[in-house]
Amino acid sequence: MLTPTLRDGVQWVGAIDWERRLFDELIPLPDGTTYNAYLVRGSEKAALLDTVDPPFGQQLLDRLDQLGVKRLDYAVAHHAEQDHSGSLPAVLARYPEARVVCSPKAKNMLIDLLGIAEDRFQTVDDGATIALGGKTLRFIHYPWVHWPETMLSYLEEERLLFSCDLFGSHLAVGDPLTADDSAVLPAAKRYFAEIMMPFRTPIEKNFGKVTGLSIDQILPSHGPIHRHPKTIVDAYRDWVSGPPKNQAVIAFASMHDSTRRMARYLSEALIGRGVGVDLFGLAGADLGHLATALVDAATIVLGSPIVSAGPHPLVGYAAMLANVLKPKARYAAVIGSFGWGGKLPEQIAALLPNLKLELLEPVVIKGAPKAADLAALDRLAEAIAQKHAALASA
Ligand code: FEO
Repeated sequence: MLTPTLRDGVQWVGAIDWERRLFDELIPLPDGTTYNAYLVRGSEKAALLDTVDPPFGQQLLDRLDQLGVKRLDYAVAHHAEQDHSGSLPAVLARYPEARVVCSPKAKNMLIDLLGIAEDRFQTVDDGATIALGGKTLRFIHYPWVHWPETMLSYLEEERLLFSCDLFGSHLAVGDPLTADDSAVLPAAKRYFAEIMMPFRTPIEKNFGKVTGLSIDQILPSHGPIHRHPKTIVDAYRDWVSGPPKNQAVIAFASMHDSTRRMARYLSEALIGRGVGVDLFGLAGADLGHLATALVDAATIVLGSPIVSAGPHPLVGYAAMLANVLKPKARYAAVIGSFGWGGKLPEQIAALLPNLKLELLEPVVIKGAPKAADLAALDRLAEAIAQKHAALASA
């Protein structure tokens, strides 16, 4: 079995899930994922950093066996979510002396979720250390990446940051230690969009805890490691707190092509005015691509026919998704077509309470688009372009 060595005494013992295609019954995983776990052995003690999703628990135990691990002193649980913690019961059964090292909040969650006995825990405060003998783990509490209990750890002597979900990517690769930055960054952006974007504020608040460290490599709990930490740290800085870009996302559903024609017309009107566009026909769109486009977009345009007096359910779903993901967009507009009536802009706007959006003048038309309707779309494109220009010069 694979147990690639990162440094002397530091080995990957995780699992590669090539076939997984959905996470949380919500997030598409076109490229699978990995559950990264690491064994860190000092001259005196051994620590396992995270476990793996339960279906892969035996693989983890087999890798530890292969490495000759007879005693495990610590099982560090950075995060209580089961894709990392779910094999803890099996690990604790195999290694009865091991103590679960986690934040105080994680302890309660792990008891709730996995029924781990209270006397197996050793909670650690922010900044606490554990000495393994020539190797020192320092724990960094980092709430909300991605649950409130999450922490990272820093192996001081090797300058390795074990970052849990933060900086991760859903990307199955044969050797998570050697993937190229150029392959990892797009997957990491998609992962950020799907998992981390709702937590931009807490990420920003604690970012100094990471940037204040001297880091050789970042080892997230999903996807390849980051061999050049500056690349992913700079990208996160931009995704989290950089200004929105001169980009518009147009997401639409269309039953008889009127809204589709409007969306396509608006996209060209925007592109002709220098605004970048990502257009998604929601009936066939990859929601991960949509989420990724929302990372940078300054404007979100939702297009819908009126279906029984309200928005098309696919558009309602996209609006609810955007509301959950909390992108940094500043402007929104509604376009669409109706046969006999309904309140499209009001109903779509009501689905976006978490976003601080300025609503631009909607373009909701009767039937197929006519010359006056296309002129209204031109005016909307002009308004979006002007808003973006003002953002860029602010
Ligand atoms: Fe990969 Fe939030 O667990």
